[in-house]
Amino acid sequence: MKVCRTIAEVRERLEHVRKGTIGLVPTMGALHGGHLSLLEAARADNDTVVMSLFVNPAQFAESADLAGYPREEEHDLELARDAGVDVVFAPAVEEMYPPGFQTWVDVTELGSILEGRFRPGHFRGVATVVLKLFAIVRPDRTYFGQKDAQQAEVIRRLIHDLALDIELRVLPIVRDPDGLALSSRNALLSPEDRTRALALSRALSTGSANAARSALAASNGLVVDYVEVADFDPPVIAGAVRVGSTRLIDNVPLNAGSDSRSDKGDDT
Ligand code: PAF
Repeated sequence: MKVCRTIAEVRERLEHVRKGTIGLVPTMGALHGGHLSLLEAARADNDTVVMSLFVNPAQFAESADLAGYPREEEHDLELARDAGVDVVFAPAVEEMYPPGFQTWVDVTELGSILEGRFRPGHFRGVATVVLKLFAIVRPDRTYFGQKDAQQAEVIRRLIHDLALDIELRVLPIVRDPDGLALSSRNALLSPEDRTRALALSRALSTGSANAARSALAASNGLVVDYVEVADFDPPVIAGAVRVGSTRLIDNVPLNAGSDSRSDKGDDT
């Protein structure tokens, strides 16, 4: 596995493998079972697997949130190696946002609802960095988790609107046995807050926004940002709560049996 720090290194490394297919798994590190399911799918589908590992400052509104984001590069690299990743792209912030950087991608409507209302600018940061990763890696396929359902929808829109020749695969949420959706932010929860956080997945699994809101209102120690039905592909009931100083999101697809999906920019 080759770890590249610069755009030039990635391009050089991938130059010789372009006859085969390339799968890109964008991550911010702190890898967990959800990421591993994306890497596994990418490994099964492609000749070359690229994982990006970049904590993207442009998608964090608050500097405390950015500073507190878990960073475990050595461990992430071990997991990536075990998952059969060929190339890790782990750039410094200046490599992705050099002085004078001023070009942004805004998925306007989708980016301003739900999470976008509580995290203004978040999806602009996501869309911009993901498009830049696409431009650097030029993947045939890219892999996202259903856990961030709105992010997957934003990327689907981006691929479609800009006619990118990239297949998007969205893999199901991976949960702990007690139902908590795996998230890099779970590492920030105290044991008590982790127990409180279970109320979110339980509430959403009622399949009714009203029932979920009532259940969460009756839970101690949670601040509910929103619980809403979102008309995504597939439609989901999505929610966000704050538990202590940690913000968690989760969603449950409204049509049962939604397995991993894939679609391409030119045919959605
Ligand atoms: O889901 C994430 O980890 C990030 O939003 C992503 C897609 C890697 C962009 O920074």
